Amino acid sequence: MDNQSPKKSPAPTGGKSTIVLVGLMGAGKSAIGRRLAKHLSLKFIDSDEEIEKAAGISIGDIFEIYGEDEFRAVERRVILRIIGQNQCVLATGGGAFMDDEIRDAIKANAVSVWLNAELDTLLERTSRRDHRPLLNTGEPAEILQKLIDIRYPVYATADITIKSGEHTLDKMVLKIADALEGRKN
Ligand code: S3P
Repeated sequence: MDNQSPKKSPAPTGGKSTIVLVGLMGAGKSAIGRRLAKHLSLKFIDSDEEIEKAAGISIGDIFEIYGEDEFRAVERRVILRIIGQNQCVLATGGGAFMDDEIRDAIKANAVSVWLNAELDTLLERTSRRDHRPLLNTGEPAEILQKLIDIRYPVYATADITIKSGEHTLDKMVLKIADALEGRKN
């Protein structure tokens, strides 16, 4: 065993515990989050997966059986629990950062990264699967455009903004890591 090898430096989060990815459905939060966590040797958590685990049913079923308000209440509980626990990379559902309490907790305890994607990218990526209840209620292009209009000004308050859809996932991970590193100095 080599006892002389240098210790891996801690993830560059400026002392904050968690890196939170925000953005609309199809922005790449989970795919990029998984790779970013690996790159930084951190645990990866997907809030939608945690919600499904906590509820024991799919997000589609939560919306259908209990409604969106109940989904948002569970989402808030789950995300507030995760933030402030062990350091991790957390991919949040697209509506999470719109919640005042969640956003305040992220601002206080985490570094937020907005994956800013154009409508065409979101449409292309979300059309591959049909598990997102908000997109099953009408014309996805119209729904996503409305969400862009409402949410992008709020997402824009994230600590870091990275364009999504123009680069490979690996390149995006490096861009986020660089931006995090830049904040440390
Ligand atoms: C939602 C986004 C979804 C999921 C739920 C609601 C939203 O997550 O949380 O369907 O309000 O934008 P993804 O952004 O991971 O698809």
